[in-house]
Amino acid sequence: MLAAHFDSPGGPENLYVKEVMKPRPGEGEVLVKVSASALNRADLLQRRGKYPPPKGASDILGLEAAGSVAGLGPGCTGRWKIGDAVMALLSGGGQAEYVTVPEGHLMPVPKDITFIQAAAIPEAWLTAFQLLHFVGKIQKGETVLIHAGASGVGMAAIQLVRLANAIPIVTAGTQEKLKATTNAGAAAGFNYKNEDFCEKVLAFTQGSGVDIILDCVGGSYWEKNLSCLRTDGRWVIYGLLSGGEVHGDLLARLLSKRGSIHTSLLRSRDKEYKEQLVKAFIENVLPYFSEGASPHLQPLVDSIYPLHEIVEAHRKMEESKNIGKIVIEMPLKSP
Ligand SMILES: NC(=O)c1ccc[n+]([C@@H]2O[C@H](COP(=O)([O-])OP(=O)(O)OC[C@H]3O[C@@H](n4cnc5c(N)ncnc54)[C@H](OP(=O)(O)O)[C@@H]3O)[C@@H](O)[C@H]2O)c1
Repeated sequence: MLAAHFDSPGGPENLYVKEVMKPRPGEGEVLVKVSASALNRADLLQRRGKYPPPKGASDILGLEAAGSVAGLGPGCTGRWKIGDAVMALLSGGGQAEYVTVPEGHLMPVPKDITFIQAAAIPEAWLTAFQLLHFVGKIQKGETVLIHAGASGVGMAAIQLVRLANAIPIVTAGTQEKLKATTNAGAAAGFNYKNEDFCEKVLAFTQGSGVDIILDCVGGSYWEKNLSCLRTDGRWVIYGLLSGGEVHGDLLARLLSKRGSIHTSLLRSRDKEYKEQLVKAFIENVLPYFSEGASPHLQPLVDSIYPLHEIVEAHRKMEESKNIGKIVIEMPLKSP
């Protein structure tokens, strides 16, 4: 089968499409014929040699995929049958014609959703759902500040905050991105490049600050984050786009607010945790992707690249030019 591949860590130019062995489903695993996958920042880090796949995971890039069930390993419980349209949360291997996945990490493709849209759901939406509900324990009426609001995770988080009857506000680096976040449901947005987001957040919340911060930026934002966190607020760190170094009196500032810092990584969580997360998402969120649902959730696809243009897809994300998800379409081949 064909798969995205690189021989040595480095820039996007190191990527190419290679013929590799088709995987075989193991105990309790399903073989999926991939129609589309999507890019994540983790793919960029892995390509640079800075985020190796967890033990036992495929070393092929790709943390999510959508396609059809093409095979069942021993011990599968009968939840899935050949030909079912599915989307998969993966520890790796999605940017290939076939991938294997534990049956409990699959979700049905919602009615009215294409494989291209479905590929944009698992990693970003499950991450945002996990951060808001499992980690941040979001409550109705709370205000949530979402950094990198126009990112794949950010656009999902905005809609999930609305679904939880809470108020999303965002930061982003361009006016175009802020406009997209407003269309997705953000109540306010601030351009961190030319305005002080902390002042703006305090003005928006009439001085009280936000209940939750979803932060994938890290180091460069720490002081402003603490200044606009409400007393007893939760600061959820799930990425370090600006680095992880902090200089200053972070602990005293945190203590004065009785604030708490939470951190989370999805990829390295165990199989059972991911199964619980997927199950909760299927029950509580998936129905809202279908036409006519209210509110109607939408996976936001920025652009679609065929697998053989994987280099250009990585470049676009590395240059922060995407709004929402970059989807990789697999070559059409008979089974
Ligand atoms: N912990 C987990 O389980 C988990 C899971 C999935 C993703 N993540 C993390 O979530 C983040 C978003 O992922 P994604 O795939 O959705 O990303 P994405 O779509 O590529 O968006 C990332 C955006 O972040 C902004 N950004 C980049 N560097 C920045 C900096 N130094 N300061 C401020 N903003 C910066 C850029 O937008 P602007 O133009 O607005 O600057 C960029 O477009 C990444 O950090 C990723 O590693 C974590």
